[in-house]
Amino acid sequence: MKIQDKMKQDWDRRAQVDPYYWVAATQEADLQSYESSAQTDCEGFLKYFLGGNWDESLAKDKFKDQALLDLGCGIGRMTAPLANYFQRSVGVDVSEQMILKAKELHQSITNAEFICNSGTDLSMLADGSIDIACSYSVLAHLPADVTEAYFLEIGRILKTAGFFRYQFWVGPQEKHPQDQDSLSIHVYSEAQLKNLHEQAGLEIIHREEIDYFDPILELKPLWITAKKIQNPQATKVVNREIDQVRSSDDEVMLEYDLLLYLAMKHQERDEIVEAERVLSEAIQFEPNRPEAYLHWTSIRLSMDDLIGTVKILEELSSRCPKSIDGWLYLAQVYQAQSLPFKALNCLRTCDELLKKEYKALLVSQKDLSIEAFQEKESRILNMDAHRKTLLKEAQNDSLKIRKQNKR
Ligand SMILES: C[S@@+](CC[C@H](N)C(=O)[O-])C[C@H]1O[C@@H](n2cnc3c(N)ncnc32)[C@H](O)[C@@H]1O
Repeated sequence: MKIQDKMKQDWDRRAQVDPYYWVAATQEADLQSYESSAQTDCEGFLKYFLGGNWDESLAKDKFKDQALLDLGCGIGRMTAPLANYFQRSVGVDVSEQMILKAKELHQSITNAEFICNSGTDLSMLADGSIDIACSYSVLAHLPADVTEAYFLEIGRILKTAGFFRYQFWVGPQEKHPQDQDSLSIHVYSEAQLKNLHEQAGLEIIHREEIDYFDPILELKPLWITAKKIQNPQATKVVNREIDQVRSSDDEVMLEYDLLLYLAMKHQERDEIVEAERVLSEAIQFEPNRPEAYLHWTSIRLSMDDLIGTVKILEELSSRCPKSIDGWLYLAQVYQAQSLPFKALNCLRTCDELLKKEYKALLVSQKDLSIEAFQEKESRILNMDAHRKTLLKEAQNDSLKIRKQNKR
């Protein structure tokens, strides 16, 4: 598979789940925060050109004869509001699903265009045709060779003395996820940053921190503004087949966790249909992880839907046979359905798994801190206590059934 196809596939999948969530990644994961993030980011983008302060009437005047490019525009979160100020606002994105949604949402904005591209070039734009290029939350997620190719393309399509203002991560320690990944963040070093600009004929003229601290990277992202001083020194064609079609394990976990977060937010707002839809997408994405099934189980149980719960848990136990939580839940639900023999079978499996888990914990004891050991041990003991309670109930019920059958 070509790297371009992988990026398209990944972003089309995300767009089909929820394009608003995947482009804006707000903590609240709702429409209101999507809209307010668009306003904040558009103002953050334009402010620099207005002398640092937001001034609506100056903005209306300053860019009215200019053409804007929004690279990786998603559903036009910024392309559409920015069209209010520019003569022409062009959004380009690798995902056909994002572009379809952008066109649907903003069909009334006649000076905004949305174009699906290859994922590595801007061949639809002529040399020197754009005054200002924008890119928010895109370039740092791309494989490094794709980012390099885009810098050269931006250098080509900008007018001389045109600007490129984009969001990026720069840190004391560079970090580059695996080169087939499309979501994890790349952190660039100062030397790499300088090189990207020099090759593209761009010069950094300003940088400022964006008010968001990433606790894992221990960094804030930057708005970087660069000016085109000359034509790029080269062009770069990305023509790379990827060895691994699947993203790295870290990235798969990141996408999966973000889906669980979205489902949780829907549930908090009592949007149960949406929560369940997202959970089923998470299961389709990672069928061999238990968390989404367990979350869905808790939703169905809160609705007293035992039949639906059993269906989810049976799927979980066949897909993730080592999930002790899954077997315990299933035993509990079989009990509630007066099926104690089925519950007993689940509890037997649980017993074996818990013993194995405890043995593994003892083996790894030397590598763990006392606190970590105690935490894991107490989790196993709690599950075992729960198992014992269920076992007693199931044994009593099964005895009653046997007695009744004898009579
Ligand atoms: C996190 S979203 C940000 C969207 C938009 N810039 C915004 O702020 O609302 C990342 C976007 O980049 C797009 N994208 C990812 N890889 C791309 C590539 N190689 N070329 C163009 N767009 C890409 C995705 O489809 C997605 O719409």
